[in-house]
Amino acid sequence: MWNKTEPAPADAILGLTEAFKRDIRPEKVNLGVGIYKDETGATPVLAAVKAAEKKLFEAETTKSYMPIAGDATYGIEVQKMILGNTSNRAATLHTPGGTGALRLAGELLNEFGNNTIWVSNPTWANHKNIFKAAGLTVQTYAYYNAETKTLDEQAFFQALENIPTGDAVLLHACCHNPTGVDLNAEQWDRVAALSETKGWTALIDFAYQGFGESIEADRKSVETFLETGSDFLVASSFSKNFGLYRERTGALTAIAATPEAAQIAGSHMKKHARVMHSNPPAHGGLIVTTLLSDPELSNLWKNELNAMRERIARMRNELAHGLTSRGIAMDSSFITQQNGMFSFSGLNKRQVDFLREEKAIYIVGSGRINIAGLTPSNMNAICDGIAEAVNLQTTT
Ligand code: LMR
Repeated sequence: MWNKTEPAPADAILGLTEAFKRDIRPEKVNLGVGIYKDETGATPVLAAVKAAEKKLFEAETTKSYMPIAGDATYGIEVQKMILGNTSNRAATLHTPGGTGALRLAGELLNEFGNNTIWVSNPTWANHKNIFKAAGLTVQTYAYYNAETKTLDEQAFFQALENIPTGDAVLLHACCHNPTGVDLNAEQWDRVAALSETKGWTALIDFAYQGFGESIEADRKSVETFLETGSDFLVASSFSKNFGLYRERTGALTAIAATPEAAQIAGSHMKKHARVMHSNPPAHGGLIVTTLLSDPELSNLWKNELNAMRERIARMRNELAHGLTSRGIAMDSSFITQQNGMFSFSGLNKRQVDFLREEKAIYIVGSGRINIAGLTPSNMNAICDGIAEAVNLQTTT
């Protein structure tokens, strides 16, 4: 059976962490994988999560299976978070992380005849593989203008106009991964209207709620689609906003035109979940439910989330300032205009390799930098390294 001579390629993001762990240089810094780090470079368990875990530990009476769709209260809390309220047009299923939600969405799209999905160019490195594994054909639509480091608005809307009826379109709700370039309210209105008139189905990837502006402001995209009355899907991840990375806590919400259609969609979600993972890993979901149904813990969590967002914004400013003051041959103002955890730096493969090999600074091959990995103590070395990498390119 084991007749392949080549190993599978390392994962573009998690494979980098493996290489980072093998690196013995003490100054090494991992700005690859999207994980929040505090001022000291640690990824702590949030205090609200710890408190919810304590409550859970005391109240938990069984390790019996979860329902296929997860705990009903979890579904209610997820809907309140992503839609602003519960909706009888929505069915939510607790999935193993955002990746599990996207894969389940892929299975549903395939079953319901949306066999081609369009993803932005560029997009999260795992999107294409997830949808291909679910049997979908993957196409890309124009999104990012590498020259201006902003949305290529004209090409983007032109592409959405041309997407055939019955296809699916993956959209990033906020904090676009990897570019950090988001749509404004008026652009979301246009996108939602196009979905309706052109008859394609939106799948909204919502992995960074609260990292853009706030929990409420970041759901503008979802609210806009909800108002149209169209069918769509939302894949949620609670890895970043609750810091639950390893607990694999996410959800898929199917929104239909009527409550009856939503119930039927929910039953098909359960059917697919049953053959993929049977029922969800309980712990992360129970933490989210316990936390969100307790007003005090909810407040504590919101404050912690705000602090994470504000620290990232400070690091963005310091990086832009640090690069500008080193006089690099690149306008760094785009860094402060991007949203969320990442900055799409525009560094090319040679510069990325230089940073890893010569400076022990790990960033994703696409040039994506995890701003949340910057700290006051690594900032100078990182600015020096990037400045050297950029000048290397312009002087050779
Ligand atoms: C990332 O983009 O770095 C994160 O979403 C982590 C992952 O699974 O790739």
